[in-house]
Amino acid sequence: MFKGVLFDLDGVITDTAEYHYQAWKKLGAEIGVTIDRHFNEQLKGVSREDSLARLLAHGGVEANFSETEKAELAARKNEYYVEMIQNVTPQDIYPGITELLTALKQAGIKCSLASASKNGPFLLKKMELFDTFDAIADPAKVAHGKPAPDIFILAAKEVGLDPAECIGIEDARAGIEAIIKSGAQPVGVGKPEVLGDTIPLVSSTEFLTFDYLTQIWTK
Ligand code: G6P
Ligand code: MG
Repeated sequence: MFKGVLFDLDGVITDTAEYHYQAWKKLGAEIGVTIDRHFNEQLKGVSREDSLARLLAHGGVEANFSETEKAELAARKNEYYVEMIQNVTPQDIYPGITELLTALKQAGIKCSLASASKNGPFLLKKMELFDTFDAIADPAKVAHGKPAPDIFILAAKEVGLDPAECIGIEDARAGIEAIIKSGAQPVGVGKPEVLGDTIPLVSSTEFLTFDYLTQIWTK
């Protein structure tokens, strides 16, 4: 039986993946870079700085900005994003997530956050989930962002576990890759076209029940 569940946040616990997209789209429009949802799949799970680098490369405008200007662009995107998440409430928690967290707690299974977002603690507080999590891995403490496994390894460590004892839940391709490399067992929220067809997938978080996780646990 697994001893921990390592949760991504944006796109798994709530719909903030959409706000990240809207904020990048707004910033992109201001600097003449157009992005669509297809391109956005490449930004999901990826750190703020790496996302900016991908967006600039996508528009072929990387050389137009100094490091200082890039830092300003990343900060500006975050301002847009932070403005958008001010009104997040517990009502914004995706279907089934609260029930899953309750069931895991009752079973004595650790819940740890493995999000690349520096806004994770703020969002958990807004959704009144901050105390439900046993740990929040700090993305500032890891050397490499997703698709590297670092944040999942840290999230497991923070609750005293090895990733091999845990299930990781992700909506992003980079995140699934990170889970696999960490040694945890992946579950994807999304479509096989995006996440591949080699791992267990749910089309909606409402199917992420405790029973489902015990069924897909193969060790
Ligand atoms: C998550 C999201 C990404 C975001 C990253 C950093 O992984 O999926 O879209 O870029 O966190 O978030 P932050 O809130 O720190 O900019
Ligand atoms: Mg995500």
